[in-house]
Amino acid sequence: MSGPKPIASLLRLAIGRKQLSLSLRPPQRCSSICHSSRRALQTLSTSPRVPDFAFAFDIDGVLVRSSDPLPRAHKTLSYLQSQCIPFILLTNGGGKHESERVEELSNKLEVLLDTTMFVQSHTPFADMDEYKEKTVLVMGGDQDNCRRVAEKYGFQTVVTPGDILTAHPEIWPFSSQFLPVYAPFSRPLPQSINPTDPAQSLRIDAVFVYNDPRDWGLDITILKDLLLSRAGIFGTLSPKNNDPKLPNHGYQQDGQPPVFFSNPDLVWAAKYHLPRLGQGGFREAFEGVWAALTGGSRAGVEFQKTVIGKPFRQTYEFAEKRLVAHRKDLFGGQDAGALRKVYMVGDNPESDIRGGNSYESPLGTDWASILVRTGVHVEGQTPAWKPNKEVGDVWDAVKWAVEDSKWDGGLKG
Ligand code: G3P
Ligand code: MG
Repeated sequence: MSGPKPIASLLRLAIGRKQLSLSLRPPQRCSSICHSSRRALQTLSTSPRVPDFAFAFDIDGVLVRSSDPLPRAHKTLSYLQSQCIPFILLTNGGGKHESERVEELSNKLEVLLDTTMFVQSHTPFADMDEYKEKTVLVMGGDQDNCRRVAEKYGFQTVVTPGDILTAHPEIWPFSSQFLPVYAPFSRPLPQSINPTDPAQSLRIDAVFVYNDPRDWGLDITILKDLLLSRAGIFGTLSPKNNDPKLPNHGYQQDGQPPVFFSNPDLVWAAKYHLPRLGQGGFREAFEGVWAALTGGSRAGVEFQKTVIGKPFRQTYEFAEKRLVAHRKDLFGGQDAGALRKVYMVGDNPESDIRGGNSYESPLGTDWASILVRTGVHVEGQTPAWKPNKEVGDVWDAVKWAVEDSKWDGGLKG
């Protein structure tokens, strides 16, 4: 926008832009639009102000229920965009590449979002360069969507349980009926399973659970085989298993692949009126089988794994970095000043509220948690983790937060 415009046209511009928000324009560089429009709006009163607070919105149970947008989600996000109040979406969901999911959500919510303001459960996996030249097993999601996400992240050799079943149906006989389902998106294995010649047998260097597994029986079996194997070589058994002289009774002590889960949610809010089991449900089911196979904690055996996602620190740190960069970008790279406060708005006390409450920001930013009643948590329940505020829905959350931050942004309704 070149040269200062007379106030009247700036006002028209600001109002015009606001109306435009319905027509899906990209998040504007707030440095140009907002300052001028707010200056236009505020010249009559005080000097313009860059918001020193921002939002992190959970998705399922806050903005959408499965594929349906929640009633006031659009109004909330477009209001924040009109006020140039930065926000990111921070979900334990996933299963598609960020660019695909952002496009889908933009259309559903009729607010244009972009990947700079978007963090899925597996987004931090994109930084795990140490495995990109290795052979990894990717679990979860529809068809082989998660394989394609991993490949977009730069992982060279990605195998799925469907590939293994298609090549070796005997590995889990109860899924052979699903072979026609797997066939369209299965790929030949980089190496077949060859128990007679382990050196020539398929070896997995790491396991990534990107999203909620669909075929628990197959995935649990494959994970069990890998963790009992020698060095991640399929078809082998580690001689160290069940050796009381060794740490963890010898389990996972023989170069077996590390296992990374992207989302701890036991339950989540989908279309059904009651919460549904999530990726955490799958992990708990596996832990039950593992304990039964190894003797479990009674025998001093644990299942060694890494779990990221909300409420864990690694994910909040990743999200905060993304929010700070997005905020700077929104204000045209200008110094937007310190980020004083972030409001984490979520429906799940175990992930959103616990995460927002316990995250200590290295930047000194204060993270506050707001619990909505449009998802997992419902009115009358006592949340396991006490939020700073409990409200009806996402619009109520933003209303409370902008008042809490004394932002005179002309909120109505
Ligand atoms: O699988 C997604 C679910 O666990 C929760 O997603 O957006 O509520 O963090 P979200
Ligand atoms: Mg949620």
